[in-house]
Amino acid sequence: MATAELAGKHLVLGMSGGIACYKIAELTRLLTKAGATVQVVMTEAATQFITPVTMQALSGRPVYSSQWDGRVPNNMAHIDLSREADAIVIAPASTDFLAKLAHGMADDLLSTLCVARDCPLLVVPAMNRQMWQNPATQRNVAQLRADGIEVLGPDSGPQACGEVGDGRMLEAAATYEAIASFFQPKILAGRRVLLTAGPTFEPLDPVRGITNRSSGKMGFALARAAQQAGADVHLIAGPVALETPWGVIREDVQTAQQMYDAVMRAVPDYDIFIGVAAVADWRVDQVSEHKIKKTAGRIVPAFNFVENPDILASVAKLPHAPFCVGFAAESGDLDVHGEQKRVRKNVPLLIGNLGPLTFGLDDNEVVLFEAGGATKLPRAGKQALAGTLIAEIARRLPDTSLIR
Ligand code: CTP
Repeated sequence: MATAELAGKHLVLGMSGGIACYKIAELTRLLTKAGATVQVVMTEAATQFITPVTMQALSGRPVYSSQWDGRVPNNMAHIDLSREADAIVIAPASTDFLAKLAHGMADDLLSTLCVARDCPLLVVPAMNRQMWQNPATQRNVAQLRADGIEVLGPDSGPQACGEVGDGRMLEAAATYEAIASFFQPKILAGRRVLLTAGPTFEPLDPVRGITNRSSGKMGFALARAAQQAGADVHLIAGPVALETPWGVIREDVQTAQQMYDAVMRAVPDYDIFIGVAAVADWRVDQVSEHKIKKTAGRIVPAFNFVENPDILASVAKLPHAPFCVGFAAESGDLDVHGEQKRVRKNVPLLIGNLGPLTFGLDDNEVVLFEAGGATKLPRAGKQALAGTLIAEIARRLPDTSLIR
C-alpha cells in the first residue's frame, strides 16, 4: 500500500450480518491508514457479530445502524450519510443483503442508503458455498453486475461452517487492494504488461550462488500500478520475499536463463515489456554437482564465467517487439551511462535510478531517458513513483501497439 493513496476519499462502509464481519475491523484500519475517511453503517444483524464500539474506535467516527437514529437531523440519515461519499462498499455482503440490493428494497438504514445513493456501489460477498451457488443468489449477483455494481470476490477455500468452496469473503488486504484499484483511472485498459523484477540467483554449487541487492520493490510496485491502471499484468520475479500484488499473475524463477526463457515464452501475448529485474550478467560455466568442500591446505576455488543472455535487448530485437522500457542502476555518471544503455538496448524509454543506489529503500528518484532528451522526476515513494511511471509509459504508447 502506498502512504495516503486514498487521501481525500470518503467511503461509506456498510456491514451486513455474517461471520466475515471480523475481517472488516482490519479492512477499516487499512482504509484509514491509507488516508480515507470511513463512515461505518451496520445492519442490525452485523451488530450481532462485531460491536459498533469496535468499529467506531477503528474508524474514528460514530457508527449508525438505525434509520431512526436521533443523531442525524430530520431522520435523513439515509441521505446525509452518503451525501459526500466517493463510494459505498458493502462488506461483508450477505446473501440476504445481495437479494435486497438486487430488488431495490429499502427496509433498513443500510439498504435505504444504497437505493438513495449518488455514487458507485461495491459489494464484497461472504457466505456459505451452497448459499453462493444457489440459483437465486447467482441471479441476484448477475442483476447487480448488470446494474453497474462492482462485485469483489468471493474467494474460495475453507469456510466457517467447515465446508470448502466458493463464497468466503476476500481477505481484508485483498478487499483493500480491490477498492484502491477501483479508484485509479484505467489508463492501461485493454493493455497487457509483462515485467521482470528482483535479482537473479546464479548457483555455484547446490548450496551457494551469486545474487545481487535488488529487493524487487520497484518492479512489484510497477506491477501493482499497471494492474490498478486496468492492464492484464504478468510478473516474472527472481527470488524475493514480497507478496504478489493483487490481480497480478506471477511466475517465479531463479536464474537469468530461466528468466529469459519465461519472458520469451510469454512475450508474444504482451503489448508492453518493462525490464526492472537486476539480471546477473554472468553465470559460472560448470555448476558443481556437489558442495565445494573447504579441505585443509587446498587452494581457494576459481570459477569460469560465461555471459547470460540480455533479456531486454533480446525482446527489443523481436520482429513484433512490444513497447520496451528498461531500468538502469548505476553507481556514477548516470547521464552518460543511461542514454548509452538506452541506445545500446534499442529501447524507446529507459528509467535511470539517480544515485545513491536505492536497493531495498522505499523511495526513489529517477531520470527518464528517451530520444528527445532526459527528464528528471521528483523523489517519491516507490509506489507513488510507480503510478507516475505507468502514466508516463501510457502517454508514450504508440496507438498501434494494440494491433500486433
Ligand atoms: N537486463 C536484462 N538482461 C540482462 C541484463 C540487463 O534484461 N542480462 C535489463 C535490466 O532488467 C534493465 C536493463 O537491462 O532493464 C539494464 O540493466 P543493467 O544491469 O543496468 O545493465 P547491463 O546491461 O547489465 O549493463 P552494465 O552491467 O554494464 O551496467
